[in-house]
Amino acid sequence: MKVHVPPIKCQGIKTKLIGWITEFAELSPAGRWVEPFMGSGVVGFNMRPERALFADINPHIITFYNAIKSGYVTATKAKAFLEREGAFLAQKGESHYYQIRERFNTGQDPFDFLFLSRACFNGVIRFNKKGRYNVPFGHKPERFAPAYVTKITNQIRYVESAVRQYDWSFVCADFQDIIRSCTEADFLYCDPPYAGRHTDYFNAWSEKDEQLLLELLSATPAKFMLSTWHSNKYRQNLMLAQQADRFLVLTREHFYHVGASEGNRNAMIEALVLNYTPARLYETSVCYK
Ligand SMILES: C[S@@+](CC[C@H](N)C(=O)[O-])C[C@H]1O[C@@H](n2cnc3c(N)ncnc32)[C@H](O)[C@@H]1O
Repeated sequence: MKVHVPPIKCQGIKTKLIGWITEFAELSPAGRWVEPFMGSGVVGFNMRPERALFADINPHIITFYNAIKSGYVTATKAKAFLEREGAFLAQKGESHYYQIRERFNTGQDPFDFLFLSRACFNGVIRFNKKGRYNVPFGHKPERFAPAYVTKITNQIRYVESAVRQYDWSFVCADFQDIIRSCTEADFLYCDPPYAGRHTDYFNAWSEKDEQLLLELLSATPAKFMLSTWHSNKYRQNLMLAQQADRFLVLTREHFYHVGASEGNRNAMIEALVLNYTPARLYETSVCYK
């Protein structure tokens, strides 16, 4: 399956699990795709639903996609912007990155957000307690070579044409409000932060949040799919174990990279929790608990 990678990256991005997720997602033609923790948006963007509500607590992600919808950010303008700022970066080095970071923290312009997301260390989005973007430079002054700019431009063009073709909304909201708005025609895909990993200003996730999410999911009339972790070498997700007899749990091994070395691969069993039995399960034999 060809996966379309979005222009803004984020920690916990599900690029490598798209095939698995889309195989079991069951969207009804009349309903909306509802994604309260959109992050990079890679899951919904690859589902290409006719109607969708994408939401996140991080306002910069939402502003970026609304800027594509309104035409403030286009592939053509992004190309010119990245060529110009990329040339300054090549000339001045990391001081230019920090200048843009300061400019973004003051003016919060979506073009600056795009630049930072693609020039920062490890492509993560992280904000400090004051809500300021604080990821350091990725140490590559020649980052914005023509092929890389073309790649990013094409990623924006993909979203640009999708928002023209489909009825997609982008809303900055807490997950509770979004889940409460769902009806039985909707398909709800939830990918909350994994507790204890990637914590930052917009990713603080406690056991209380997890509990509330499960309560809301238990009560929703919509079909839902929840991405979560099942276990790793050291721990089991106990909260998930408590849900195993109420919902269907599909599992799969996934490797997360920590740092640049191939040796630093952490195996994690990923889980999909569903409140329905997908038709696909009857057609094929899959590993489920
Ligand atoms: C694991 S990421 C989602 C990754 C996404 N599925 C992807 O593949 O790129 C979790 C997202 O939840 C958002 N988030 C954290 N707390 C939230 C809350 N209370 N309400 C809504 N979104 C929240 C974060 O800003 C982050 O973008």
